[in-house]
Amino acid sequence: MYSDKNSPFRIAVTGSTGSIAGHLMPDIAKGLLNKDDRPIELKLHVRNIDDPLQTQKMIGLAKELRDHGAITNIIATNDLEELFEDIDCAFLLGAIPRKPDQPRSSVLEPNAGIFTEQGRALNEFAKRNAKILVVGNPSNTNALIVDSYTPDLEPNSVTSLMQLDTIRMKAKAGCKLDIPPNMIENAFAMGNHSENMVPNLDNASYRNHPLLENLPDDWYTQNFTPSIQKRGQEIGSLRKKTSSSSAAWSALSHMNDWVNGTQGRVISMGVPSNGSYGIEEGVIFGLPVTVDDNGRIEIIEDMKINPAHEYFMGESYRELLEERSRIEHLLNHEQEQVMDLDLDIENHPTPI
Ligand code: LMR
Repeated sequence: MYSDKNSPFRIAVTGSTGSIAGHLMPDIAKGLLNKDDRPIELKLHVRNIDDPLQTQKMIGLAKELRDHGAITNIIATNDLEELFEDIDCAFLLGAIPRKPDQPRSSVLEPNAGIFTEQGRALNEFAKRNAKILVVGNPSNTNALIVDSYTPDLEPNSVTSLMQLDTIRMKAKAGCKLDIPPNMIENAFAMGNHSENMVPNLDNASYRNHPLLENLPDDWYTQNFTPSIQKRGQEIGSLRKKTSSSSAAWSALSHMNDWVNGTQGRVISMGVPSNGSYGIEEGVIFGLPVTVDDNGRIEIIEDMKINPAHEYFMGESYRELLEERSRIEHLLNHEQEQVMDLDLDIENHPTPI
C-alpha cells in the first residue's frame, strides 16, 4: 500500500497539443519536475479528443512519454473535472497566441473564457494547496481571472510566469560579461509580462560581486532593457511562432522553485500584490519572491529599482489596471452571488 509520501504527484497541463507543451511534457516525463520522488501522474487536456487521428497521436505520445521512466500514469481528457481532480500543480498553457505584430493584451478577451472556465473547475476539483501557473497570454491578467475564480484554494495558489523574462535577462547579461548566465543571482523581472516589463539587475550579483559594477549604466538602461522587453516579439517575428522551448524551460523552473522551495534564492513570479512597491493589493504583478520548503511564497520588499525603470513600473501597473478594467465584469461574480443572497433574505422574513 502507498504511504502518503508515495501518493502520486499529479500534474495537469492544458494546451497539451501546443508547442510549449511539446517541450514541457518530455521534461516532466524525464522526472525534471518532482516532489520527494513521488510517482508522477500526468494529466493532459486535449480539446478534440473525439477526433480518431488526434486520439491515435495522443496514445502514441503517451507511450513515448511513459518510456522516459518517471511517469506512472497518463490521462488525456477533455473533461475539466477529470483533468483537475486532486492535482498538485497545473500548467495553464492553452490559449490563443498573439500575432507577432500585436501586443499580448490583444488576446485578453479571446482567452478570458478559457481561464474563467478553468478557474471554476480548479476551485471545485484541485487540491486546496494546488499550485497553478498561468503561461497563456496576457499571463498576469489571465492569472487574475483564475485567482478570482479560485477563492477556496489556499492564498497565493495562482501565479503567472515571469521567469521567461528573467532567463532572458540572465542570458543577455551573462553573454555581455562572459560569465555563465545561470550563476547570476538576484536578477528578476518585475511588472507586467509585456513590453513595459522591468528587467531588474540593480540587485544582481555574480560570485557576490554586484553585476552593475561591470556594466555601463547606459548599456543597462538603453540597450539591455528594451531588448529584454522586446525579446518575445523578436523571437516571434523571426520564427513566425511564439517562443516555445524557452517558455517551457522557464515554466518548469518556476514550478520546481514553487514546489521544492528556493532555499533563500530570490526569483520572480507574477503574484497577487500585497501592496508593496506601490501596487494595489491583489493585482498580479511580477515581483521578487522567495519560496519556503512548504511552498509558501514571500514577497521581498524594498529591493533597489533603477530610477530609469520607475517609468516602466508605472506603465506596467497602468497596463494591468487597464487590462483588469476590460475583464472587470468577469471578476465580479462573487459580488453577484452576494446580491442574489441579499434578495433571498428579503424574500424570507424568518431570521437566518
Ligand atoms: C514570450 O514572451 O515569448 C511569450 O509571451 C510569447 C509572446 O507572445 O511573446
